[in-house]
Amino acid sequence: MNVKQQVLASLERNKGEYISGTDLSNRLNVSRNAVWKAIKSLQDDGYRIDGIKNKGYSLSTKCDIISAQSIAKFLSSDAKLFDIEVHDVVDSTNTQLKVEAGNGTPEGRVIIANEQTSGRGRMNRSFFSPSNTGIYMSILLRPKMTAEESLFLTTAAAVAVAKSIENVSGCDAKIKWVNDIFCNGRKVCGILTEATLDIESGGLQYAVVGIGINIIPPKEDFPSELHGVATSIFDKDGYYVEAKSKLVALILDEFWQYYQNISSRNFLDEYRERSNIIGKEVTVHYANKKERATVLGIDDQCHLTVRTANGEVKSLSSGEVSIREFE
Ligand code: BTN
Repeated sequence: MNVKQQVLASLERNKGEYISGTDLSNRLNVSRNAVWKAIKSLQDDGYRIDGIKNKGYSLSTKCDIISAQSIAKFLSSDAKLFDIEVHDVVDSTNTQLKVEAGNGTPEGRVIIANEQTSGRGRMNRSFFSPSNTGIYMSILLRPKMTAEESLFLTTAAAVAVAKSIENVSGCDAKIKWVNDIFCNGRKVCGILTEATLDIESGGLQYAVVGIGINIIPPKEDFPSELHGVATSIFDKDGYYVEAKSKLVALILDEFWQYYQNISSRNFLDEYRERSNIIGKEVTVHYANKKERATVLGIDDQCHLTVRTANGEVKSLSSGEVSIREFE
């Protein structure tokens, strides 16, 4: 961490309290002048930092800028596990992280953005990612697993996200197989895992787990095709300062626990419990046809077991199909 990042980390940890310039310079082992320059630069970035003679500096409790440092203070795992970078706007956090992955960046790298200009979803769909109303984040992993097993990264992430959303917003978060999180019957989050195969070993070279969450209602509403389909985890008055930073930290903590032990699939029971389609009538959309079915359950491979209208029982893997409630 450079001096500016270290100063920010101290201010974030002591938000609302004053720390003297001398204290900061002693703690960080840098000159008073270096501290002053860091404070000035943070203020230029929009941080509300009060400076009072003989008292020191204090970051306003109203400040809600998400940063590696604002997230780190909510992490219960070792913050060193993650190398977090926050951008105002990128094309797609998955796209950015895939470039880094190709250049050899180690696992644990996390890219977060307040806006995406080309957010991507499953099946080549775009993901609506307007500014400052959602969180768009991608996590780089280098797991020892096959391509088929990479589905467990998505499903473990779904459970981690659902639990974390519930924790920060209180909304009852459900999972729609395979990668969507729902609150109040509408989608609040989508997850897109992209992986590259290592030709020699046949295993994964890397995987990027991308998570997009609608935090508050978008300023200009959702586009018409998402009306009645998408919503946000907070209504316009429900959001509170630091909820985004806390949410990201909880997701990273929860997900990392599952990831460390991914072969145990200890998230599967909760994945099933949170499912909002087991027992429901759905339409299964294949590449060039669709059919009606009843969802019987989710098996240990995370495949969806359905009974079609003619009584046939099928096991569906996520690559092939999308599911809609029967319309
Ligand atoms: C879906 O709904 O089909 C999945 C949406 C995944 C969106 C996230 S936002 C962060 C990351 N970057 C992207 O471009 N996509 C994922």
